[in-house]
This record gives sequence, C-alpha cells and structure tokens, in this order.
Amino acid sequence: MKVGVLISGRGSNFEALLKATREPGYPAEIVVVISNRADADGLKIAHEAGIATAVISHKDYDSREAFDAAMDAVLVKAGVELVCNAGFMRILSDGFVAKWRDRQLNIHPSLLPAFKGLHVHQRTIDSGVRITGATVHFVRAEMDEGPIVAQAAVAVLPDDTAQTLADRVLAAEHVLYPLALRLVASGAARVADERVIIQGEGDVVSGPLFVPLPG
Ligand code: GRF
Repeated sequence: MKVGVLISGRGSNFEALLKATREPGYPAEIVVVISNRADADGLKIAHEAGIATAVISHKDYDSREAFDAAMDAVLVKAGVELVCNAGFMRILSDGFVAKWRDRQLNIHPSLLPAFKGLHVHQRTIDSGVRITGATVHFVRAEMDEGPIVAQAAVAVLPDDTAQTLADRVLAAEHVLYPLALRLVASGAARVADERVIIQGEGDVVSGPLFVPLPG
C-alpha cells in the first residue's frame, strides 16, 4: 500500500515508519512526504532516504480548502492510498477528511479520548493520572477523534516533567505507529460502526497494546 506522510517538524514518527516499511514483507511503502514548513527536520530525513518530498506552505493559500487541495493533488499524483499524519500541525478541512475517510491515520501522544489537543504532557501531569500513552486512530473532522487502531500505555512517574514524559511516550509512539500501519495496510484492521475491528495473521488484537518502558 502506498503511503503519504504529512509532517510539520521533527519527523521522528515518520522516521520510525520509514524504518519499518523498509523491513522485508512490510505491507506498506512511503512514496511521498509533505511538509507545510520548509524548515521541518523531517524533510532532511526524507532527502537522505531518497523519499520524494513536497513543501506546501499554508501561508501560500487563501483558504484551508485551497491548501488541502494542493496537498491532495500531490498525494494523488504520487499514487497514495493511505495518508499518515505524523506531527502534522494543521487542522484539515472537512472535504479533505471526507475524501480520505478510513484512509488517513493520525498519532496523538495520549490515551484518547483523554487529553486531546496541545500541551498534552503538562496537562497529563497536572491531572494526576498514573498512566498515559499514545494512540493511533483514523482521522475524523473533529481534532484527535476517530476510530482507534492501537494504543500504547506509558506510566507517569512521580518526578516526570513534561519533557521526560514526552520522551518516554515518543519512544512508545515509535513502536506503536509502525504496528498500527501494518494492521491497516495489511487489511487486518477495518472500521465498522466507527470502531476498529482487527483480525488476521492468527492473532486477534482486541485490547490495548502495552509497550514496555524503554531501558
Ligand atoms: C508526536 O508526539 C505526535 O504524537 C504528535 O506530534 C509529535 C510529532 O513528533 N502528534 P515527530 O515530528 O514525529 O518527531
């Protein structure tokens, strides 16, 4: 399955996906990376890996719809079948979301539906929860909403700062996103009644995925 990745910055999740997709037998390949920022570090990763890139700055377009149409044109031209948002920091128009419905994934650094939006890790710490994590979900019009493909749980430690927690959640994201993409690209994960059903390869994954703490 041909995948297009949308980024805005560092691109570490894109890098994790790229590494996984280059493993033999992985059911997806990344054919293009689109960034809305020319200075996104993720673009360097793509260049070094020989992946096609496009910079489409939202500032060059009068409307969200026009910006999204420009991205859509690049995705279609590259033959993309599935879009993966990986740290992409723009809200998408309803039309774009509808066009790619059930063919667009996002990763968010919390156990959705908790802690949608920005400043997730500080809000997580401030709330006092003991467990957080990461979620890969199909994209819907509302931000950080949509059928959940996979989740990873990460402990919140007593001395965590937003940064130390973000670092540990990010390590879990790098395991989770390739796993979720594999499930979707292989056809093992599908949406039914706005929930994701997972089957195939002899396994049934019905509960959350717990990724061990690194180290
Ligand atoms: C990740 O924490 C992701 O969950 C969130 O933005 C961050 C992107 O990091 N949506 P990177 O650009 O993939 O390194």
